Amino acid sequence: TLLHAAAEVVLAIDQGTTNTKCVAVNRDGAVVCIAAAPLAMLSPRDQWMEQSPADILASVSTTLQEAAKECTDRGFRIAGIAISNQRETALAWDAATGDVIGNAISWQCRRSTGVCDRIASHALEIHERTGLVLDPLVSASKWAWLLTESALATRAKDLMASGDLRFGNVDAWLLWWLTGGKVHATDHTNASRTALFGLTSLAWDSEMAGLFGIDISALPEVKTSASHFGVCNAIGSLQGVPIVSMVGDSHAALAAQGPSGTVKATYGTGSSLMVALDELPRDSKGLARAIGYSTTSGVQYALEGNIAMSGAALKWVGDFLGLADPVADTAALAASVPDSDGVVFVPAMAGLGAPWWDASARGALLNLGPWHTKAHMARAALESITHQVTDVFEAMVEATGVVLPALSADGGATRNDSLMQFQADMLQCEVRRSQREELSAIGAAWLGGVTLGWWKSVDEPYRMAAPPQLFSPLMPNDLRVTRRQVWLESVRRTLSQGA
Ligand code: G3P
Repeated sequence: TLLHAAAEVVLAIDQGTTNTKCVAVNRDGAVVCIAAAPLAMLSPRDQWMEQSPADILASVSTTLQEAAKECTDRGFRIAGIAISNQRETALAWDAATGDVIGNAISWQCRRSTGVCDRIASHALEIHERTGLVLDPLVSASKWAWLLTESALATRAKDLMASGDLRFGNVDAWLLWWLTGGKVHATDHTNASRTALFGLTSLAWDSEMAGLFGIDISALPEVKTSASHFGVCNAIGSLQGVPIVSMVGDSHAALAAQGPSGTVKATYGTGSSLMVALDELPRDSKGLARAIGYSTTSGVQYALEGNIAMSGAALKWVGDFLGLADPVADTAALAASVPDSDGVVFVPAMAGLGAPWWDASARGALLNLGPWHTKAHMARAALESITHQVTDVFEAMVEATGVVLPALSADGGATRNDSLMQFQADMLQCEVRRSQREELSAIGAAWLGGVTLGWWKSVDEPYRMAAPPQLFSPLMPNDLRVTRRQVWLESVRRTLSQGA
C-alpha cells in the first residue's frame, strides 16, 4: 500500500492571466510534470480588458488532459484536482442553459470606474467590512457594471429576477464546468477579493450586496479553500476525480511559502506581498485585508500590498534608453556600477499603490549630477524595486506590531543576486529565495493534499521542500538609514499633494 500511496498525485490547475498551467504534485509535495497553454487578453476599448470564457475552458481542458495522460503513462494515480486562479476576474452565466453573459471581465479592466465613483461615499464602510479599497479591481463593481451599464444588462437583470443568474470568479466558473453544471461554489480567498464578503462574519455581506445592487442568490456558496468541492465529469480521463481545493493564486503561493508569520513577495511585472496571520489587525496601514487560505482547522488571514511597477520599472527604463532587450539589458547595465550614486528613480508612471495609494502620483528621476550615466539610472530602477517592497514590508510591520523575521521571495526577477542582496540590506533582515517555481500550483496542490488527508496542514509538505537560499544584510545600518531617507523623501516629492 505504501508504494501505491507514493504514486499518487494531485493535478493542480493554475489558471492565470497570460496562461494556464496544469501541474502534477506528488505525496512528497514536489512537482512531477507540467503542461502549459497561453491565453489571450482582449481589449475592445481603451482600458477595457476581457477574456473569452470558452478560451479559458479550452486552455484548462487541454492542459488537464495533457498532464493527466503523462501521469497515467508514468503510473501515477490522480487522487484529486486542485484549482489556483487569477483573482477578481468576473464572469456571469445562465444556470438553465450554461450560456455565459458576455466575456470574463479581467481584474485589470477599468470599465467599472463609474460604478465606484457613484458609491465613493461608502468607501470607508467597504474597507472596514470587506478589507478592500473601493476600486474597479473588485469583482462586485464588475458585476454591478454588467447589471446596469452593459449592453447585456436587461438580460442579466431578468436572469437575476428569475433566480437563474450565476456570478463567479474563474474558480467558480471552472468548478461549474468541471462538475457538469452541478456545483456553484467558491472558496474563502476568492470571495474575500470581491468586496461582497464579510471578513469577520465569513459570509456574503447583504449590505454590501445591496450597495452594489447584487442579489446574493446569484453568488456561489463559500467553502474553505481545502475542501471537497465536487466531482469531475467534464473530462473522460478524469471522470469521478474529486475537486479537493480552490484558492486565489497569490494566496496559493502564500500557502506554499511557509507557516503563519511568513511574508512572501512575488517579483514579476509588478510585485505582490502578503503576510499570513492568525488574526487581522484593525488598522491595516494602507494594506488590503483578506483571507490567506483556509482549511478545516481554521482560517489564515492575510495582509496584502501590491506594487504596480517592479519588472515594469526596468522595462520602462530599458525602453526609454532604447535598449534592445529592455529588461535584461537594464539589469546588466545596473550590474556595471556598485550603486546608483544617489540617483533615485520613483516608477510612479501609473500612480502609486500600497502603501501610498495615490493614483495621481507621477514618476520621477531625482538627484542627477553631470557625472551620472545611464548605468546609474538603470541601477536606480533596480533599487526602486527593493525600496517599494521595503515600503510595503514596513507597513506590514507597523500594522501587525510584530517583528517580521524574513522575506520569502519568488518570481523571475529573484534570480538576480544583487537585487536579492540589496533587498536584504534595505530590509535589514534575511531574504529567503525560493528554489522552487510554480508556487501557486504547489500551494493549491498542498491544500488539496490536506483535504485528501495526506497532511494535517501545508506546513508538512513545506518541511519536505527544497530549502530556500538565504541572503543576509551586509550594509552598515547608518548607510541603510540614509538610503531609505533619500528614497522616502523622493516618493514624497512625487505624490500629488506634495511633501
Ligand atoms: O489579482 C490578480 C492576480 O490574481 C493575477 O495573477 O498571476 O494571473 O497575474 P496572475
